Amino acid sequence: MKTLITNIKELLQVRHTSIDKLQGQEMKDLPSIKNAWLLLHDDLIEDFGTMDSLPFLEADSTIDATGKIILPSWVDSHTHLVYAGNREQEFVDRIHGLTYEEIANKGGGIVNSAQKLQATDEESLYQQTLTRLKEVMRLGTGAIEIKSGYGLTLDAELKMLRVIKRLKQDSPIHIKATFLGAHALPKAYKDRRVEYIDEIVNVMIPKIAEEQLADYVDAFCEKGYFTVEDSVRIMEAGKKYNLPAKIHVNQFNSIGGIKAGVENSALSVDHLEVMTPEDIEVLKGSDTMPVALPSCSLFLSIPYTPAREIIDAGLPLALATDYNPGSTPSGNMNLVVSLACIKMRMTPEEAINAATINAAYAMGISKTHGSITKGKKANLILTEPIPSYGFLPYSFGSNHIESVFLEGKPIN
Ligand code: NIG
Ligand code: FE
Repeated sequence: MKTLITNIKELLQVRHTSIDKLQGQEMKDLPSIKNAWLLLHDDLIEDFGTMDSLPFLEADSTIDATGKIILPSWVDSHTHLVYAGNREQEFVDRIHGLTYEEIANKGGGIVNSAQKLQATDEESLYQQTLTRLKEVMRLGTGAIEIKSGYGLTLDAELKMLRVIKRLKQDSPIHIKATFLGAHALPKAYKDRRVEYIDEIVNVMIPKIAEEQLADYVDAFCEKGYFTVEDSVRIMEAGKKYNLPAKIHVNQFNSIGGIKAGVENSALSVDHLEVMTPEDIEVLKGSDTMPVALPSCSLFLSIPYTPAREIIDAGLPLALATDYNPGSTPSGNMNLVVSLACIKMRMTPEEAINAATINAAYAMGISKTHGSITKGKKANLILTEPIPSYGFLPYSFGSNHIESVFLEGKPIN
């Protein structure tokens, strides 16, 4: 099946040779072809060029994209999409003055979601998650990482990961699964944190690896949650089973998680709202992708990741939503890209690079996703007629998406 798209006002993020990530100054450049055509063959990008060089092509369908822009679909490399119910009440509690930490300390937060999830059967969890997955696909997300971490028992973590496995099988969106057993200390392990890490390392990771339910491991490395030492044990256990790490670090405090992540070849270190000069230094020359989650900063009223310092230090940066019931009940990558420009002073070019090719790197899929490159997946956003690509982040709160193509087909 071949689809030809013609008269594209601008085809964005065109990379003739496959790159895996962009860093520092490179992020300022967003290559494009104006007045372009694009040919899709089944699930892949077959060819593209300028309209004046359009050869005669046999296609099963042709789409006229006059006035419209095409870019690779967003890649959301950090979400907690599988959860039960919601935490609206905590949202109201925070309006009344409680902090995220205070809510967690009185039994709310992650353990509140864990209680709800443990009481929810797999089918209902699947349906609740599928609704959110369809929503983010309509918002232009074409690849997504989904974490466990609201189970906090072997059975409930397996339930979450099985839901993710089913979604992988059933959905056109590309999915990676991350095991986040160390998300919060379950009540049953009160004052026995090290024993819970023993359980994760000795029981949960081996079982999950045996059932091939995860691609990555994660830990919430933060004061009041898990220490650097705990996180290192989890990253080391992950490595034994070929599960690289993507870890939560520096959300509220800088406690050494970034250095530990880099030393353990973490694929990404995520959050980074609180950064010291040493944290930036340690990332230099590493293969670890820093990931910012600006819609979490918006929702919790916490600092934004210092993108300018990170990029101006020559580092790469990716953007993701952190979609979860507590700190970010939104999976809107369009808003994330806008916030990166408005609150983190990233240029539209930097933000789009961060949400496509660098985000693909943070998910381990930059060979197949994140740019318009021959042979990559035909995962695309076709915009409404708009004046320029800068109009996307400028019109914050809107998305101007006309249609989304995943694996070469429009989603409905
Ligand atoms: O990435 N910080 C840890 N985990 C999530 C929040 C989880 C929750 O509040 O339910 C996050 O923000
Ligand atoms: Fe998160």
